[in-house]
Amino acid sequence: LGHQLYHYKEVASTQDIAHQLAKQGKPHGTVVIADEQVKGKGRMSRPWHSPKGKGIWMSILLRPDLVPVQAPQLTLLAATVLAEVFIQKSELKPQIKWPNDILINHKKVSGILTEMQAEHDQIQYVVLGIGINVNQAADDIQGDLRHKASSLRIESEEEWSIAETIQCILHQFEKTYDQFMSQGFKKVKNVWEKYGYKIGEQVTIKTMKREWQAELIGIEPDGALKARDQKGNEEKLYSAEIMWGE
Ligand code: BTN
Repeated sequence: LGHQLYHYKEVASTQDIAHQLAKQGKPHGTVVIADEQVKGKGRMSRPWHSPKGKGIWMSILLRPDLVPVQAPQLTLLAATVLAEVFIQKSELKPQIKWPNDILINHKKVSGILTEMQAEHDQIQYVVLGIGINVNQAADDIQGDLRHKASSLRIESEEEWSIAETIQCILHQFEKTYDQFMSQGFKKVKNVWEKYGYKIGEQVTIKTMKREWQAELIGIEPDGALKARDQKGNEEKLYSAEIMWGE
């Protein structure tokens, strides 16, 4: 991974650049990094605040031999990679909120955006976007976000080296990815569940159609979230938002 690494000072979004590189035929493992994104993208068309030099704004181009329904597994894999790197580098206790937000002390420090190009039921490529709030100070986090978002620095009370953290992530990612490709999803699932947020607890689940109370049970072998509603019915979710107390 990162054998071809593109580093920019400022871009609209590293996702867009990675898509362009993919279309030019760049190989699996190409990495795009920027110091600043002026139009960072989050999930569900939300903006992603990516201030200069404060975080890791990175997109990884993958060309996995997988079918499209397996793409969510890559997202969960990436979340486990970040959790493990944060643990290697600090005393922090990261948790993963399904599908892929990394929380520390209940606040989001990192998000993952997976975008896929598929044809004839085969993945052409995946652009895996990783955003990590690294060195923002408490004052850098504005208004509404204050009680929901944080940074590695705020939570660990020390500055982090961005370059070194990127290196660790790429190294851990490569290791975990190779393991996943040769041995399947089970190990990723186990690691994910070890860090899973609110597993075994009651939460509110929200989809486009409804909102209800359920207990989170874990993830399915295909990466779906398993939950049990108050009548005891188990359900598999592929897309939903998890919420809890206010
Ligand atoms: C989310 O939690 O909503 C996902 C956030 C993903 C942000 C990263 S930063 C690098 C890459 N480029 C983008 O524009 N978005 C992703």
